[in-house]
Amino acid sequence: MSLLKEPDLGTPARPGAATVDLEIDGQRVSVPEGTSVMRAAALAGVDVPKLCATDSLESFGSCRLCLVEVDGVKGTPASCTLSVSAGMSVHTQSDKLARLRRGVMELYISDHPLDCLTCPANGDCELQDMAGVVGLREVRYGYDGANHLDAPKDTSNPYFEFDPSKCIACSRCVRACGEVQGTFALTISGRGFASHVSAGAEEPFLESECVSCGACVQACPTSTLQEKSVVDLGMPTRSVLTTCAYCGVGCSFKAELRGDEVVRMVPAKTGGANEGHSCVKGRFAFGYASHPDRVLTPLMRESIDQEWREASWDEAIGFVGRRFRELQAAHGPGVIGGITSSRTTNEEVYVVQRMVRAAFGNNNVDTCARVCHSPTGYGLKQTFGTSAGTQDFRSVDDADVMVVIGANPTDGHPVFASRMKRRLREGASLIVIDPRRIDLVRTPHVEAAQHLQLAPGTNVAVVNAMAHTVVTEGLVDADFVAERCEGYVEWAEFVARAENSPEALAEVSGVPAEQLRAAARTYAAGPNSAIYYGLGVTEHSQGSTMVMGMANLAMATGNIGRRGVGVNPLRGQNNVQGSCDMGSFPHELPGYRHVSDASVRAVYDELWGSTILAEPGLRIPNMFDAALDGSFRGLFVQGEDVAQSDPNTQHVTAALSALDLLVVQDLFLNETAKYAHVFLPGTSFLEKDGTFTNAERRINRVRPVMPPRTGKHEWQVACEIAQVMGYDMSYDDTSQIMDEIAATTPTFTGVSFDLLDKVGSVQWPCNAEHPLGTEIMHEGTFTRGRGHFVQTPYVATTERSTRRYPLILTTGRILSQYNVGAQTRRTANVAWHPEDILEIHPHDAEDRGIEDGDLVTLSSRVGATTLHARLADRMPVGVVYTTFHHPVSGANVVTTENSDWATNCPEYKVTAVQVARARSTATDEEVEAAQPTDAQSGVGVLRSHA
Ligand code: SF4
Ligand code: SF4
Ligand code: SF4
Ligand code: FES
Repeated sequence: MSLLKEPDLGTPARPGAATVDLEIDGQRVSVPEGTSVMRAAALAGVDVPKLCATDSLESFGSCRLCLVEVDGVKGTPASCTLSVSAGMSVHTQSDKLARLRRGVMELYISDHPLDCLTCPANGDCELQDMAGVVGLREVRYGYDGANHLDAPKDTSNPYFEFDPSKCIACSRCVRACGEVQGTFALTISGRGFASHVSAGAEEPFLESECVSCGACVQACPTSTLQEKSVVDLGMPTRSVLTTCAYCGVGCSFKAELRGDEVVRMVPAKTGGANEGHSCVKGRFAFGYASHPDRVLTPLMRESIDQEWREASWDEAIGFVGRRFRELQAAHGPGVIGGITSSRTTNEEVYVVQRMVRAAFGNNNVDTCARVCHSPTGYGLKQTFGTSAGTQDFRSVDDADVMVVIGANPTDGHPVFASRMKRRLREGASLIVIDPRRIDLVRTPHVEAAQHLQLAPGTNVAVVNAMAHTVVTEGLVDADFVAERCEGYVEWAEFVARAENSPEALAEVSGVPAEQLRAAARTYAAGPNSAIYYGLGVTEHSQGSTMVMGMANLAMATGNIGRRGVGVNPLRGQNNVQGSCDMGSFPHELPGYRHVSDASVRAVYDELWGSTILAEPGLRIPNMFDAALDGSFRGLFVQGEDVAQSDPNTQHVTAALSALDLLVVQDLFLNETAKYAHVFLPGTSFLEKDGTFTNAERRINRVRPVMPPRTGKHEWQVACEIAQVMGYDMSYDDTSQIMDEIAATTPTFTGVSFDLLDKVGSVQWPCNAEHPLGTEIMHEGTFTRGRGHFVQTPYVATTERSTRRYPLILTTGRILSQYNVGAQTRRTANVAWHPEDILEIHPHDAEDRGIEDGDLVTLSSRVGATTLHARLADRMPVGVVYTTFHHPVSGANVVTTENSDWATNCPEYKVTAVQVARARSTATDEEVEAAQPTDAQSGVGVLRSHA
């Protein structure tokens, strides 16, 4: 399916139209200007020996193995650092070159352990290969001189080890950590013979600033940096090309296996989203798929206070289908519904929404995007006409100004963050708009030009103040607006009002007026300015308003429709874009077409033999409310832990407890399963067959590395439930499902598994007009015709700090864990983040007698939990922060039911709270405020981490 070893052309490609003709070993070759002789030779099929060069890194020229001779040039230049020139004649083989290369190899080998046969890298070691290539037969210097053979191993990282005795000081790891990852955790310390690789300040890897991305391991030509899994299991023997199942970056990986066992995940150089890079989750945290907690057999019980019993698939599916029908017969067709998962494939989502619309006979289908990027869908559709980001990731390479709003890419979207950092090191400017001083504000060789440290909940005030500056200071791209947009005059009149001036909004937002004006001027000046944003934009009561505010700003300054610009949601889950595309919302059929559109319904009704309702169904929060009032009775939840991830846990669990039938399909018995009657085991990404769509609309293949460990694919389960309910739905395989999606969804008409196998990936729209997909949206014209300016009045959230709850809590993710942690908590990633921590400014901590590491009570008007505190001056005074990866701390116990006005996306980012030292120093009032309410399930309430 994919190559175990991808070709390595030695140095990076130099894209460009102008080409240079030269001759290598008598062969004529034509390559882009700036290409190295080494790469030109490789492209001509001539491999020059190399050790310090690899095509993911700029050439370094240290090993001197790649020497060549060039007619008319003195000496033997290194081919990796020598650029091609017109008419050059290069010779890669001669007696002299062979002698020189053997001499180099002799020196390396004289200080290298001769344990090839027992070395884990045997068969995958470039030093070993090169010894063979140069014909090394003897080592004249012997092995007894000064050497590094006794240097101790560093095994501190959970996933890879560092054995300096094997290091050849080629610096590939150091360069990978800097150039590719942008962390700069490694250096070559010492000089001459004493030079050696060190992490941080000569620390073990785990204690250094290393983020365990694995780029150095991948770059290392020897076994010095080696995956522990390879040491334990041996070298892989085959590979399958697939896609990471964590975040919306959608990195492509080779799953490398030995027999049936996955030995390692290696990021694919051909991956459109990641181009050979990865983060700690995708590369290393895949062990959850074989964790003993995995449930592989259906489970059933009469009521939620009983123990589970194992059941056959037939019994479980039969019960689910019959019970759903009974509930409908007794209470009406609208009393059941389903929640699709952004962790499953497009094909699985499509089948579940079909099950709901055609077999359940209602539109009660919603998805976890409800709680993350539903405002993106709404806001971008209103303004641009498409519910998706405008650019591909590569576009950032052309950005002059990046504005990062409410996102923390180094933790949430790490591979894209590395790309951003590279562009910033090249000189692009960065504006960060975030209450917290996120890592991007200041990181090695990167410093934000501006950090607008706004008060949580005031995004719209900030964007309006920036728009005011653009309009009133004459920074509008008048030609772009006149040619391509509508509604400008009214919008300009609105933002130009005094109430939207930076001076008026400075107090509201907490950002000085001059900073607001400066940010607007920098953004408008570009010339290419790109906005990247995350859940810090959407998860607010004005989430949709803010999305439209950013779109307005981009249109007003002409920053749409070409490379280097755009409005780009950094989407959270691996397939959240796809689950939205596939018709998971109660009001939209696949391709974002409203259920009220009779012509669209007719397409599906004819194909499915159904009668789709013209009225939108229930959203997730409506389902919970209806469950509590008895008008909603049965729910199918696929791959989403609503009891942990949705706000106001007590309300959610009370609603789940009220259901007559709750069916949960997942890998593990999660928090939601505590309220379920039937648990259906789900498949991990290693077992899935289908596609994921990432944040840049890129459709990537997910190929099965092994058959479903549960015995059934998830789409098969949905089909069988539908069949028990009397609705005939079946597919031969997943490519047939994609064919149906393509046949019925205008933006997907060109997509097929065959095409993806041929070209790797495509970005939708992929159709007759764009047969290979669309990298940049809205070129020339907007999807809706003219871009639409929408007025965005700032309305303060009703969630305010009070005397009783004087602090504002905001939440987010950390690099090593993922969302509710169901997967990452079951891997060695817990080494970096064993528990959720509350970050609090030292002044707020001092006021409360809290010291670093203290156990504290975090309470809001809806609930309370306990966790350890970390004093962090990256927090502004008055704002505290935590993650929600561990159910034991259950951060959502304290978040409220406030939500976005347009989409009901919860306002996770603003909750008024109090923090007090747990136990000894809390006042009576604080303790009272921290007590659980009756409805609380006990999840995360006043528990310590002990
Ligand atoms: S794993 Fe990544 S961050 Fe850590 S040292 Fe290697 S390249 Fe740098
Ligand atoms: S650890 Fe590997 S990549 Fe780094 S200098 Fe040594 S041999 Fe080269
Ligand atoms: S950046 Fe996202 S998609 Fe890529 S490896 Fe990490 S978690 Fe996976
Ligand atoms: S590969 Fe060119 S000097 Fe090392």
